[in-house]
Amino acid sequence: MLFDTHVHLNAEQYKEDLEEVINRALSSGVSTMVVVGFDRPTIEKAIELAEAYDFIYASVGWHPVDAIDMTPEDLNWLEQLAAHPKVVALGEMGLDYYWDKSPKEVQQEVFRKQIQLARKVKLPIIIHNRDATADIIEILKEEKAEEVGGIMHCFSGSPEIAQECIKMNFYISLGGPVTFKNAKQPKKVAELVPLERLLIETDCPYLTPHPHRGKRNEPSYVKLVAEQIAEIKGKTLEEVGAATSENAKKLFGIIR
Ligand code: NI
Repeated sequence: MLFDTHVHLNAEQYKEDLEEVINRALSSGVSTMVVVGFDRPTIEKAIELAEAYDFIYASVGWHPVDAIDMTPEDLNWLEQLAAHPKVVALGEMGLDYYWDKSPKEVQQEVFRKQIQLARKVKLPIIIHNRDATADIIEILKEEKAEEVGGIMHCFSGSPEIAQECIKMNFYISLGGPVTFKNAKQPKKVAELVPLERLLIETDCPYLTPHPHRGKRNEPSYVKLVAEQIAEIKGKTLEEVGAATSENAKKLFGIIR
């Protein structure tokens, strides 16, 4: 029983064989997934998938790279979607200082507005962070994100930063990189963060775990992430699967 908390089955990479990808996930023990939208087309597709499959849920938000494109109408639209019974979170949102399509100040403004919306509609948030840890933490604190909590998606920081996020009511989600041989930091995080605060994800089609690196990622590979965490923690795959699923259901308010 595995819960993949971050998939992009709404990406065009699955246009040809989505049904097979979903079936492989189910036969690999994936029981639930959250499809994460990050702009108009991917949000629409996430909702469509959540309506079509009972084990698929949606998260809706505006990606920091595209922050400059978000209009007030888009924000209103997110608020309407937040009332959808299969929408369980807002995001992904956050800061991305690697790409410079949207200026930092615009990213920060759009991030703050989405956190404010999340507090209004009482949904947890999914955080995308690239090269922006200090600013993310500052904004989460200033905007009182602790009130709704959420997920540090594909966490790549230190155990100390993980601890700081946990104190702010966030879960630490590990993905494919924890399986990479040279990934010291994610392995340390897997070791030190208690199972009660860990989640698993693929972020597919990106960040494919070992030994499939270089190929398209898919939800069935979340098992490799769970196995790696189990090995590091000296637990069984079943224990890691059950604990992380429970965490995800609790955070998203899913009863099934
Ligand atoms: Ni993502």
